[in-house]
Amino acid sequence: MKKLLLAMTTLALVTLIPAVSMAGDSDTCKGCHNGSVAPSIDTLKGKYKTADELVAGAKNVQNPMMKAAQADEAKLKAAAAEIMK
Ligand code: HEC
Repeated sequence: MKKLLLAMTTLALVTLIPAVSMAGDSDTCKGCHNGSVAPSIDTLKGKYKTADELVAGAKNVQNPMMKAAQADEAKLKAAAAEIMK
């Protein structure tokens, strides 16, 4: 039983870690910015002209769903750069 648990945990870690580190920075945004939960990435692209504007816009959002994105500024900037490229 213990061995099985260990094997499962190891497997979960091995499969999860690369998936997280390989995902593009803007992929986290796409989960919500799909046009139904939040404005789609294309809408954001149309609304903001530079990555800096997009970051500023993202920080101004009062919606609690943006809290996690706002808390990780480095990630937010990387995602903005990826979205605007
Ligand atoms: C948990 C869901 C969620 C995630 C993840 C998320 N957002 Fe948002 N975002 C929202 C919601 C909800 C709004 C508010 C939409 C509204 O007010 O109509 C919003 C609003 C925004 C706005 C302002 C939109 C506007 O119309 O001006 C920007 C910019 C933005 N998000 C950027 C991002 C970026 C960049 C990421 C990835 C780092 C991200 N968001 C991740 C849910 C999310």
